Amino acid sequence: MMENNFDPQERIAYLSRTLDEHNYNYYVLNAPTIDDREFDRLMHELEQLEAQYPQYASPDSPTRHVGSDINHSFVQVEHTYPMLSLSNTYSIEEVAAFYERVRQGLDDAPFHLVGELKFDGTSISLTYENGRLKRAVTRGDGTRGDDVTRNVRTIRSIPVVLRGDDYPDLFEIRGEVLMPWKSFDTLNEERERQEEPLFANPRNAASGTLKLQNPAVVASRGLDAYFYYLLGDKLPGDDHYENLQCARRWGFKISNAMRVLHSLQEVKEYINYWDVERRNLPVATDGIVLKVASLEQQRDLGYTAKSPRWAIAYKFQAEEAVTELKSVDFQVGRSGTITPVANLEPVLLSGTVVKRASLHNEDIIRSLDLHIGDMVHVEKGGEIIPKITAVDADKRRPGSEPVQFVRNCPECGAALVREEGEAAWYCPDSNHCPPQIKGRIEHFISRKAMDIEDLGPETVAAFYERGMVCNVADLYILTIDDVAALKLQGRKWASNIIRSIERSKSVPFARVLFALGIRFVGETVAKRLATAFGSMAKLREATVEELMAVPDIGERIAHSVVEYMSDIDNLLLIERLAQYGVAMEVEASAPVELRRNIFEGAAIVISGTFKHHSRDEYKAMIEQYGGRNVASVSGATKYLLAGDNMGPAKLEKATRLGVQIISEDDFLGMINSMNS
Ligand code: IVH
Repeated sequence: MMENNFDPQERIAYLSRTLDEHNYNYYVLNAPTIDDREFDRLMHELEQLEAQYPQYASPDSPTRHVGSDINHSFVQVEHTYPMLSLSNTYSIEEVAAFYERVRQGLDDAPFHLVGELKFDGTSISLTYENGRLKRAVTRGDGTRGDDVTRNVRTIRSIPVVLRGDDYPDLFEIRGEVLMPWKSFDTLNEERERQEEPLFANPRNAASGTLKLQNPAVVASRGLDAYFYYLLGDKLPGDDHYENLQCARRWGFKISNAMRVLHSLQEVKEYINYWDVERRNLPVATDGIVLKVASLEQQRDLGYTAKSPRWAIAYKFQAEEAVTELKSVDFQVGRSGTITPVANLEPVLLSGTVVKRASLHNEDIIRSLDLHIGDMVHVEKGGEIIPKITAVDADKRRPGSEPVQFVRNCPECGAALVREEGEAAWYCPDSNHCPPQIKGRIEHFISRKAMDIEDLGPETVAAFYERGMVCNVADLYILTIDDVAALKLQGRKWASNIIRSIERSKSVPFARVLFALGIRFVGETVAKRLATAFGSMAKLREATVEELMAVPDIGERIAHSVVEYMSDIDNLLLIERLAQYGVAMEVEASAPVELRRNIFEGAAIVISGTFKHHSRDEYKAMIEQYGGRNVASVSGATKYLLAGDNMGPAKLEKATRLGVQIISEDDFLGMINSMNS
């Protein structure tokens, strides 16, 4: 029946829209909503339909361009050679078909392939001039990417200066920036403690990290990089494998897994070996890549619009197990978010016993139509936390109960709330819900917040249960006698605790802001807010619009801050903290830049059209950073922010009066440098 109504034009349009959306989620937001396999399936369907109905294929189809990861806070750079992707397959038969296509394409001439691991990170293109790293650019939309050189310089495995002297004067090398499993686990554990959203997999963590504005934070995240592709006019030789051996000598990290493969049989053995062995690698891989070794033969085979004909990626199947769903727990986090967690019959999956799986939110439970006692499929792809991907409804026992999401807080009984556009339910009674209160105190004292050493969760719980500390301000009225009365440890311990509480009064304002535990205000956001507003008094007055004018602050965060600041209990808490001497403004001794006044009252004229932001956005940025936006150029004008198609008269006047003319990129660069 469906077939009769099938409209290929409509389906092509639908698939194109959907894939564009997924590309955006993946590359821009670093938050994919479907897995790679499903994405590949949709892409494959679109490719087939476009081949069958070329009249409906749009030149902008996602089959013809790679997804964009462009982030407008970075300067964009055009790639000298476009960054293409690889055609993918999950089947050995298609690998054999590729082998055959290559043979025929080369008119039966002898050839060999190079087998490599397919690293699951984010691709990067580095340009070296006279042995020095000149520039590092992300893939972007394949034609233009973001210049992330400052961040890439912090990755220790990437050479800034090359070894030896036999490298070409100018060349590009491409590879994958990765977050090793170990760094990924540490980062997510820390984010979990801070109740910041977890990265779904090391790939998203790597690309998210590469796009941070602060290179010092990038440096702390333990990124790594492997390289697999050399480009340039004067490469050492005509063989991909040999060229990469040279690159290894110049100081690049080239995987030892790379092999020359002489037959289809060797290709199959290579795939089978790495499908198992990859589990012992320190970084995530999602397949293997096969490339024709000779560069001349690569040129003969050429490219399709999207990918080379001389290479293919074989992707490994995600690992899966089937087990029984025993029950579902609902956990209450520090900021009240309710997380459903599945308790499973223990099952072995990629070498570890899995007992629990996150169910994320109510929508996921609904879409799975989950019942207690169901046999569920558990997958561990790139993700650290296993997820339930499907249910065997056929095996469902009659009369089994569907999983019901709780409507009241399992800890304090308050009716749960779900805000429009949000997937999570949360308990709104933050000031009376015990795990939220204790969680907030624990967060407040944590190392990255107020850093109150010696006070651990156990002591916090003891204070709370005795009614001695009901909120974070109560910590500052504790005495040595109060602490000693807990009898957990001796008097020396008690006096250490009081000393570290006292010392926390000198923690900078940005950390105080983070320590308050406002929903969605993590460390980075707190720094941004502290820099932009300078004091609690100013932040308290800020409107949603003013908050959203700050880089990286979106609507969700802005609303959360305004809501926090309009709650009388929170304001009283802040008042008390201020009274006890906790920092409520950026230190007066901080450099001027830190106090957001980079433009310090300067008159700035905006003229022309812009690529990255609207004129109104630039106006807001000028004001936010202490400047004044004025309409016309005069002797008092400090800068002319010049876009495209600017009137020649204005330009001439500005030049005559000695006004500094700055481009959009200069302007964003000035703001970026102060935010980092
Ligand atoms: S070669 C023109 N080799 O996979 C071909 N890519 O889908 C250039 N990748 O964008 C890519 N490991 O991010 C190549 N050994 C490898 C790779 C690899 C991972 C990534 C890379 C690329 C994507 C292609």
